[in-house]
Parts: sequence; structure tokens; C-alpha cells
Amino acid sequence: MFKKNVSVKKLEFENIIQVGKKRETAELVENFYTENPFPNYDDMETIQDLQKKIEGNAFTSNFKRFCGFGNNIIEVGSGTSQLSIALASGTNNKIVAFDPTLESLRLGLNFAEKNKIDNVTFVNGDLFSDSFIPGYFDIVWCSGVLHHTESAKEGFKLIANWARPDGYIIIGLYNLYGRLRTVFRQFLFRLLGKGKLARAIVSFLDPILRKDISKQKKLAWFQDQYEHPVESLHTLDEVLDWFDENNVEFISSIPSCDMNAVDYEDMFNGGNRGDLPTRIFSQIAMLFSSLGSEGGLFLVIGRKK
Ligand SMILES: C[S@@+](CC[C@H](N)C(=O)[O-])C[C@H]1O[C@@H](n2cnc3c(N)ncnc32)[C@H](O)[C@@H]1O
Repeated sequence: MFKKNVSVKKLEFENIIQVGKKRETAELVENFYTENPFPNYDDMETIQDLQKKIEGNAFTSNFKRFCGFGNNIIEVGSGTSQLSIALASGTNNKIVAFDPTLESLRLGLNFAEKNKIDNVTFVNGDLFSDSFIPGYFDIVWCSGVLHHTESAKEGFKLIANWARPDGYIIIGLYNLYGRLRTVFRQFLFRLLGKGKLARAIVSFLDPILRKDISKQKKLAWFQDQYEHPVESLHTLDEVLDWFDENNVEFISSIPSCDMNAVDYEDMFNGGNRGDLPTRIFSQIAMLFSSLGSEGGLFLVIGRKK
């Protein structure tokens, strides 16, 4: 699966493969996530707990069904690799959980080994080292990652190339409009000096931090949303341009481009690109839904031509 010209080595005593070199931004991000691996396994002991989480979400449950059996799948920027492990569980899919943060991968590996999931390969590296053979994967999944790199557009270009013709690419990014509520709280946090009071006010205003979740989960969320060293914002139109430039056909998005309700069971069968006003309206509408209150992440699904 790796290109011939990249360095590949297995870590001693650990089932983790290291590939290529990490660039400076990936190292910065690794240091950040080493302190607070994301997402954490705080309230998860068994594979059943993880399956419950995946089944509880309309998108991930349908994505798991779509992934089916016998596919090569990569999760780029898998963090602690919860989705990778869930996609592997009960299937013969070969999953690659790929991330520059070794500590996050270790947590995933530990969970996979404890639950006897042996069809996930944990790979430590930076996507910009472009270590995988073009066209190797049936499905490339990358959510919550490209906006933490030096160039989301360049990153997309590389990972889109790892999908085979007719293979799928799914990316999740922070939305320029949909993340406005978080951007406002980030501004407030800085304005108030990032101290205890600032933390308390922002925590009170953030719907996720008001939920009844563990202290550790709250800390990981806070760091990820308010103290991240690298973050950029993107739009549906930008992603559609990247798709066009990289031979990727638009399939669908959440929120939808044409303002219609998302049909989660039909997400992989092709949708409508809408037009500029419907796309902008759809992204503004994120602010008034859970998409906006949970950080403003939007997803776009494409198929390699
Ligand atoms: C917010 S976490 C998202 C984790 C997971 N995708 C999820 O949605 O739960 C972002 C992840 O992107 C990874 N990441 C950042 N820069 C990367 C790069 N250059 N190559 C691959 N992964 C990267 C980080 O290490 C981190 O685990």
C-alpha cells in the first residue's frame, strides 16, 4: 500500500507502522493532540459501547452500512481511530487508521487489541508525506483534519489521489458560515484573556460543554475548539472547486447544497449541487441547527472519476 520511495518502519514492540517524514505543522499538531488525544475513550470500554456511539448518529450508522465488506478504507487523521475500529468491527474490510499523533494511535491500538479487532492497520505519519500508492483505496475518509493543516486544498489534492476510480472520498471541514457561533466564542475567550473566568463563560455558552459529559471529554473538546494552534474555515463552493480540479464527482453533502433535507439513507447515490444562493443559505442555516452548535463541521461526499 505504500509508495516505494517512502521510508516505512514498524515500531519496536508496538503494532504501529511509521511512514515518511512529518512536516513542521504536523509536528505542532501532534504536540497539541499528544496532551489531549481526540476523541477520547473516556466512557468506552467495549466494542459494543463504540458501536452504540456509531449507530446513534444518522451519518456514521449509514456510512458503516455503506462501507459494507471487502473494501480497502483509509481514515486520514484518524486521531484515536474510533471510526476506523467501528468500520472494521464485524467486517472483513481492511482499514488503515492514519495519523501523525502517535499517542492517539496508541489509544486506538490498545482499544482494538482489547476488543480483538485485527483488521485495522495503525499508520503514523503526515498526509503531506504522500506515502500511499495512488488509487489504492476504495474509500478515503478525512473529517476534522484538513482545516488543521497548512493547506486544506493541497491536502485534499493528495488524499483524493489515493482513491481508486469510482472510489469514494468523504471530507469534513469547518464551515465559514456554520462555525460563526464558535468563532464568536473563540473571540470572546481571547478578549477576556483566556483565564479562568474566560473559560467559565465560554464553557457556559458552548452547547457541548453544557452537556452531561465527563470532565476529560469536556477538556478535550475545549482544547480542540478554543486552543488549537492551526485552524482554517471553508465553504461548499471551495470544496466543489477542489472536486472539479481533482476529477472528483460531487455526490452529496451535509448540509445539502440545494437546501433539501438530507436523506441519510441515500447519501451515496448522488445529489444536487444546487446553486450559489442555495449553497450560501444552506450554510447560514447551519447556525440554527445542531451542525452549528456542534462546531460547524460540514461533510462533502465525492466519487473519483
Ligand atoms: C480533531 S482531530 C479529528 C480526529 C478524527 N478524524 C475525528 O473526527 O474524530 C484532528 C486529527 O487530525 C490529525 N492531523 C492533523 N494534521 C494532520 C496531517 N498533516 N496528516 C494527517 N493527520 C493530521 C491530528 O493528529 C488529529 O488526530
